[in-house]
Amino acid sequence: MLVIGAGQIGMAIARRMGYGKKIIVGDKKAENAQMIAKTMNEAGFDVVPMEMDLSSKSSILSVIAQAQKHGEITMLVNAAGVSPSQASIEAILRVDLYGTAVLLEEAGKVIAPGGVGVTISSQSGHRMKQLTPEADEQLACTPAEELLSLEILQPENIKDTLHAYQMAKRCNEKRVMAESVKWGEKGARINSISPGIIVTPLALDEFIGPRGDFYKNMFAKCPAGRPGTADEIANVAELLMRDSGAFITGADFLIDGGATASYFYGPLRP
Ligand SMILES: NC(=O)c1ccc[n+]([C@@H]2O[C@H](COP(=O)([O-])OP(=O)(O)OC[C@H]3O[C@@H](n4cnc5c(N)ncnc54)[C@H](O)[C@@H]3O)[C@@H](O)[C@H]2O)c1
Repeated sequence: MLVIGAGQIGMAIARRMGYGKKIIVGDKKAENAQMIAKTMNEAGFDVVPMEMDLSSKSSILSVIAQAQKHGEITMLVNAAGVSPSQASIEAILRVDLYGTAVLLEEAGKVIAPGGVGVTISSQSGHRMKQLTPEADEQLACTPAEELLSLEILQPENIKDTLHAYQMAKRCNEKRVMAESVKWGEKGARINSISPGIIVTPLALDEFIGPRGDFYKNMFAKCPAGRPGTADEIANVAELLMRDSGAFITGADFLIDGGATASYFYGPLRP
């Protein structure tokens, strides 16, 4: 099992699905990967931590090669990312948009027959206005190395870090659709999960960031009336990764306590 992103969501999915497997956990912050490896290894898992950078193709290829030393990759979890309050427009596009596209493509080339993958997108992509069909197709199908040169992703067309994040997450969903066709040639499946507010270090940075009040209002007024937990994301990942999800591929699952519904048709309407 290859897990990119040693955060709360990555760990929750790894704990749910990674028993009995060699689990390679890669993160840009080596200490995050080591911390999760320690916690999980003391709970009966078999985790190898690795330092890697999702924004770098060579780093992605190297973590895949390391994982393959232990056997074929049967499961991929991509739960690495940076949020609008944590990073610049350029960093968000490079990590969340470009890096995810490269990872899905490269993992898809080597995934074992019958393998499964999930990547973590976001409700943010759902709240942004629809793009044109042409823009959607560009995000889905442009070769990964050319993605960041697309006109729609140039600085003059990206308003702020939130807009960059929304474009990255919309792109994740489109890439998953396009990649699922290729993964399907091997009987493998790939899906994305779009969480709402899930309490993790990344979300806590948002709560104290410039949009803190906006986020607190969002979970207070969403139908569920609270933020979610990483384990609830693992519930969805479990369905997608088990045989019971065998007919699900190329899909995106919104799990946001109803925040998006309220944003369009309820008290969260802007
Ligand atoms: N927490 C939420 O409310 C929420 C909501 C929607 C989507 N998401 C998405 O979920 C994913 C996981 O986030 P989380 O909430 O578990 O946060 P987290 O902070 O617990 O984990 C994110 C991890 O990604 C790592 N990371 C950041 N940049 C990286 C890079 N370039 N290469 C490798 N690793 C890198 C971080 O070091 C961190 O360990 C992200 O893609 C995030 O956008 C989170």
